[in-house]
Amino acid sequence: MSDAASAAIPPTLSRVRQWDRDDPLGGFKSRFALPEEVLYLDGNSLGAQPIAAREAVAKVMDQWRDELIQAWNQGWFDAPERLGDLLAPLIGARRGEVLVSDNITLNLYKLLGEVTAVAKPGQAVLSEGGNFPTDGYIAQGFCRFAGLAHRWWPEGEALEQHLEGVSVVVLSHVNYRTGAVRDMADVTRRVHAAGAEVVWDLAHSAGALPVALNACGVRYAVGCTYKYLNGGPGAPGFVYVASERHDSAVWQPLSGWHGHAVPFAFDDDYRPADDIRRFRTGTHSAVIYAALEASLTLWQAVDMAKVRAKSLALSGLFQATIAEHLNDYAIVDITPAAACRGSQVALIDAEHGYAIVQALIARGVIGDYREPGLMRFGFTPLYLSHEDVWRAGQAFCEVLDSGEYLDPRFAARGSVT
Ligand SMILES: Cc1ncc(COP(=O)(O)O)c(C=O)c1O
Repeated sequence: MSDAASAAIPPTLSRVRQWDRDDPLGGFKSRFALPEEVLYLDGNSLGAQPIAAREAVAKVMDQWRDELIQAWNQGWFDAPERLGDLLAPLIGARRGEVLVSDNITLNLYKLLGEVTAVAKPGQAVLSEGGNFPTDGYIAQGFCRFAGLAHRWWPEGEALEQHLEGVSVVVLSHVNYRTGAVRDMADVTRRVHAAGAEVVWDLAHSAGALPVALNACGVRYAVGCTYKYLNGGPGAPGFVYVASERHDSAVWQPLSGWHGHAVPFAFDDDYRPADDIRRFRTGTHSAVIYAALEASLTLWQAVDMAKVRAKSLALSGLFQATIAEHLNDYAIVDITPAAACRGSQVALIDAEHGYAIVQALIARGVIGDYREPGLMRFGFTPLYLSHEDVWRAGQAFCEVLDSGEYLDPRFAARGSVT
């Protein structure tokens, strides 16, 4: 790792360029299609496009044209398992433990049903306050239909105080707002010791930092592929179930035909597959799976330890470049210390945060904004150079000093922020 992460004063451009020359991941940038004039710090929302993804999608269009329905037997149908096996090493799982399917919301529903199917009657589902909303919403919806109690673990309180009578808790590994990373092994051990189960949401960890599901004793997890894994807009989510829990006697609740032991037997009665395929539901998109497969193929050559080292260097570099301006403009940096942060910098300015992000976007520096007052900047080591981040930091300072964020056009809200 370069010393950028700990730099107290902003580094010079020539120093930053030297870090790029020494960067072991520098070669990956040319494998992504990014507009020349854009500095993209939003790969934590939607990853950039691998060049190979466009070619893979074009190939599927040709297959569709030339092979028609027969293409389902030429790699389309078994894509959820095949892509799961490509993804598994990136999150510390074994082959056969990951299925690429649906999205985080639906995969959480499946796992909540699976885990609570064997829970003692009357036990509750616990959600963490401050988590990404869909995790709580789907837990509440599941509990209404399953007739289970739903409870909240308020932010800042001890988890153990809330585990009494709980069968399953849904937790994010990396918090989507602050970027704080949980100690997955420790929390998993504590939840299991209390007789409960934990489902981890890896939305902001898969492809962002090393994840060791097997080594941490994790049995259940979900995640998405459209952020750090560059699968494309609407790319599918994934579900991980440790092989020790592959029990086809337990049904996940979204028992669709693709999860049947023999989908093309067209039996009346459902009989789940005896492996990870029972988490499949119905027909998936061959097009978006092709884009994701191209990206996951690229990821096979990536060393996650190097990703982590560069991610911390980039977030530290961004902080060093803007630090002085934060004080001047009363903007608060809530990013955790390097050891316990994900791959983002989180800044709070309740009054001007939204407008500052819009003014940056107008300059081609793309970050995002989350209510209330949060400016998020994501760092994706495969396609961001140190110079990109240094330039983004300069732009941030210039937007503040020029006052351009005060222009009324930057106050207008789009439906996606
Ligand atoms: C932690 C977390 N969970 C879930 C989601 C979204 O879930 P889905 O893929 O179902 O839209 C996000 C999206 O940003 C997220 O940050």
